[in-house]
Amino acid sequence: MPEHGVIEISQFAAELAAEPMRTAQARPLRIGLAGCGVVGSALVALVAKQAGRLRREHGIAPSFDRVLVRDAAKRRPVDLSRSRVTTGLTDFIGAASEVDVVVEAIGGIEPAASLARAALRGGVPFVTANKALVAAHGQELAALARESGAAFRFEAAVGGGVPIIRTLRDAFGGLTIRRIRGILNGTSNYVLSRMSVDDLPLDAALADARAHGYAEADATRDLDGRDAADKLAILAWLAFGADPARLEVRRQGILPDPARLIRTAAADGLTVRLVAECALGPDTITATVAPAALAPDSELGRTDGAGNRIVIETDEGGIYTLGGPGAGGMATASALLADVLDTVRGCR
Ligand SMILES: NC(=O)c1ccc[n+]([C@@H]2O[C@H](COP(=O)([O-])OP(=O)(O)OC[C@H]3O[C@@H](n4cnc5c(N)ncnc54)[C@H](OP(=O)(O)O)[C@@H]3O)[C@@H](O)[C@H]2O)c1
Repeated sequence: MPEHGVIEISQFAAELAAEPMRTAQARPLRIGLAGCGVVGSALVALVAKQAGRLRREHGIAPSFDRVLVRDAAKRRPVDLSRSRVTTGLTDFIGAASEVDVVVEAIGGIEPAASLARAALRGGVPFVTANKALVAAHGQELAALARESGAAFRFEAAVGGGVPIIRTLRDAFGGLTIRRIRGILNGTSNYVLSRMSVDDLPLDAALADARAHGYAEADATRDLDGRDAADKLAILAWLAFGADPARLEVRRQGILPDPARLIRTAAADGLTVRLVAECALGPDTITATVAPAALAPDSELGRTDGAGNRIVIETDEGGIYTLGGPGAGGMATASALLADVLDTVRGCR
């Protein structure tokens, strides 16, 4: 029988208890933050809450010296009064060499790619939550990072708060990964859960997902499977060495009629999940994203709400499962902060 390890990452709130400030000298850590929406503002809030711990355990006093946004006049849920807020990419890139790390939480390819190249070429660590960027330019950016010696880290790009990137990168050196299967899109999982459990129509479930910070204004990429395909390509890169930009992912999302998918599965006592899967064959890597009808008590079938769950199968017989919050500002910000701390420790 295969061994079965389960790691649940679900108690972020308990981690956030206020810490007493220490008087010991802490090294300033100047962060250049690109994007201060759901994820970026959660990172600012998380760093403020964790200030005592960051000072005591890591010897750093982070500040958001530069913040790049689209609309500088927009009201935000966090205090940026001590930051230089700019809408000018040239201004922000010009300042990249004056910060210790650039964190990108804008999304999409541009201006994120220009920013990543500028930071990495200048030897400044670059941390991102942007799966579209990593799927399209991951190998190019990794090469730039190798040349300059600057860190390029993207834990937050896959799995939200689930530490799947560092697990694949650091923990599987002695094993051969054969297959990865999982729920990689928290938005569609939340929508499917709400539609089936509470009998909501798609529009209402999506509005509820937005209200909880689990869905962007335009959730098309989540619902049509492109977001999960980008994440799957990144996992295939780490597991099998496949160039994520060239991996062909066969993709079908939960559109156009998720209610019909749910009804059809329910008639057989099953539940619908958007499942992403990649596997290493003798000559090729297969990769698919598609809705699947699953037993409600199965590993993926019982993954509810904005949760993500990833099952890794190895040739050596072990099956490993990681699960936890797959979307939302705070879960994603926790992954960004973990990467920032790794850059402080000198990890590349
Ligand atoms: N939300 C999640 O649960 C989640 C989970 C995992 C990963 N992510 C990833 O995290 C990234 C950010 O997502 P989000 O949900 O935080 O998005 P968001 O709420 O839409 O925030 C985007 C931020 O980027 C800024 N921005 C957009 N276009 C810009 C431009 N051309 N120049 C300068 N600034 C620009 C926006 O400025 P304004 O505020 O002025 O409009 C906003 O502050 C994306 O890559 C997303 O895929 C999100």
